[in-house]
Amino acid sequence: MGQMIPEPAPKLSMEARLNGLSKMSQTSSNFTERVIAATGPNAHPRLKEIIPSLVRHLHDFAREVKLTVGEWEAAVEFLNECGKMSNDRRNETQLLCDILGLESLVDDITSKLLASSASETPSAILGPFYRHNAPLLPNGSSIIQDLDPSVPWYTQAVADSAHVTGRVLSSSGEPIKGAIVDVWHAAPNGLYEQQDEAQPDMNFRGRFMTDAEGRYSFYALRPVSYPIPDDGPSGRLLKLLDRHPYRPGHIHFIVSAPGFRTLTTQLYDDRDHYVTNDAVFAVKDELIVKFVPKEGDPKALWLLEYDFVLGRK
Ligand SMILES: [Fe+2]
Repeated sequence: MGQMIPEPAPKLSMEARLNGLSKMSQTSSNFTERVIAATGPNAHPRLKEIIPSLVRHLHDFAREVKLTVGEWEAAVEFLNECGKMSNDRRNETQLLCDILGLESLVDDITSKLLASSASETPSAILGPFYRHNAPLLPNGSSIIQDLDPSVPWYTQAVADSAHVTGRVLSSSGEPIKGAIVDVWHAAPNGLYEQQDEAQPDMNFRGRFMTDAEGRYSFYALRPVSYPIPDDGPSGRLLKLLDRHPYRPGHIHFIVSAPGFRTLTTQLYDDRDHYVTNDAVFAVKDELIVKFVPKEGDPKALWLLEYDFVLGRK
């Protein structure tokens, strides 16, 4: 008689295995409550409020997608890589948050918490290219430096030359005198000046102070779409998700005045293909603007008029 070969145990489905685990199992919700209950009585109050929710969502996420050790290790390595790549010129971890929509979501939550009136101009994310101390320029001057026919994108710059003007108002409609309008945008090659050695320092950047009527005025260009830096882990993730890296053309603003909450926002040119498909999900309807043709101005072929409304502190 041949030796008896034991029959292999029938393979359980993943569901059956997870459901069959005891209450001490890490895959049970009881386990999640144990992790939350480990928080001590002297924990930081805000962390005591938000970490239980974070733990619940993290654990539910892992259970829902049946996250494996290999996948979790890859995620840890990915986050480590984002951290190692970050420095004072590039913030890869913030970029990761951006492509997942988290910075825009948090920005909107914060601005709605702080807003005291529906008429206030909506905020938008700061983005990674802001520089402090842009030159303070007289109203009516240009933020374009050293533009001449030797610049590779000269023709496009002429075609997109724009006068940008408007007022800074309180939510009750009164003009705010002495507000600072801090503005910056990318060059027609899609690069901010600190990314591009060919551009002069502080090109396409300036600060303007509003007059007695709350008015600001400067010359710039209609902004172009550009890709977010996609040569790091965030770019790799975009490719794995079959996503593009482009942001719609936009002009950044920080508008500040004593007694009012500082507004960080962006205006989006409605001609841009990506205005409905922003890689970082920052566009809001109220921030989409229309440049109209301008006649009789040798410095601009386009005009944009936009009023910013600030909330009181
Ligand atoms: Fe930008």
